[in-house]
Amino acid sequence: MQRKNIILGIESSCDESAAAIYDSQRGLLAHALHSQVALHADYGGVVPELASRDHIRKLMPLIERVRAEAGGPELTGIAYTQGPGLVGALLVGASVAAGLGMSCNLPVLGVHHMEGHLLSPMLEAHAPAFAFVALLVSGGHTLLVRVDGVGRYRVLGQSLDDAVGEAFDKCAKMLGLGYPGGPALAALAAEGRSDAHDFPRPMLKRPGLDFSFSGLKTAVMLAVKAAPDTAQARADIAASFEQAAVDTLVAKCARALAHTGASRLVVAGGVGANRKLRDTLDARAARDGFSLYFPRAQFCTDNAAMIALVGSLRAGEMRTGIASAEARARWPLENLAPPLATVL
Ligand code: KG4
Ligand code: ZN
Repeated sequence: MQRKNIILGIESSCDESAAAIYDSQRGLLAHALHSQVALHADYGGVVPELASRDHIRKLMPLIERVRAEAGGPELTGIAYTQGPGLVGALLVGASVAAGLGMSCNLPVLGVHHMEGHLLSPMLEAHAPAFAFVALLVSGGHTLLVRVDGVGRYRVLGQSLDDAVGEAFDKCAKMLGLGYPGGPALAALAAEGRSDAHDFPRPMLKRPGLDFSFSGLKTAVMLAVKAAPDTAQARADIAASFEQAAVDTLVAKCARALAHTGASRLVVAGGVGANRKLRDTLDARAARDGFSLYFPRAQFCTDNAAMIALVGSLRAGEMRTGIASAEARARWPLENLAPPLATVL
């Protein structure tokens, strides 16, 4: 059995630098984040080298800030995002973790970013019990996962092409919206009619739990080309795209719950911040009688609170004396195993 732990979490897998401190008994003590949105905006997407350099500038001040905000607690370990993500960006967090571990004589653990997203609803007071089905929807992933416990994951379905967040970002670009596109597209959609275009609901007619968003993306591209250049026409396309994407995600969630017999659904990852998705799932949960769990919107997108939480749950696997930084650009979720020892 693991004793009480207090873990520093570090996140640097993409375009957010973040630090947090999680206490196994008191919960989240502090979290802080610096978004690189402004840095990459002119380029219309994340520039990996700029991302890495900015993580180098921002991580240590963020760590200092959360330590101060948490009241300078005695840390018992450090968790950092080891992958998947941009390898240069990951290496910055990994190096900071290894360096701090050596200098402060603290054990260190590399954490799977998607496991962080998967377990992020456990940061909330209304936390799900195992087992549950999780819909992970981010810029890089669209996954339906059966979760039987920490480290006990089975992927039920995934996108065969673009991730849903990527589809939001690309459609936003076609509509002349800036990066990151998801929130901007959702805001524009609120001004439009969701039944203006009958866009395809990909893969709904076929059995199974996989997704595909390239057909929907193409339909949006053709609609943009054919539409008049007016704000209302763009808003109608945005609303119709959002409706098609949300309908597809919700239908597949309902199918995954029926398939597994689970009665709890967790939604996490950046697209989980989408209001229409949340409201539509809420209505479906009331209708079908399943329980729905979301982390708060700021823990749907990338953050270090979820990384510190995973570090706390996996504290038994932390190792001291790790001198080299390790990053994994690719890392299948199903390769994870249950923790060696779990904190009660
Ligand atoms: O989880 P996340 O912050 O980073 C990754 O690990 O990818 O997800 C970012 C993705 C982006 O594609 C962004 O456009 C999308 O989440 N996103 C949204 C919303 N907020 C963020 N998509 C739709 N509606 C939103 N409100
Ligand atoms: Zn993420």
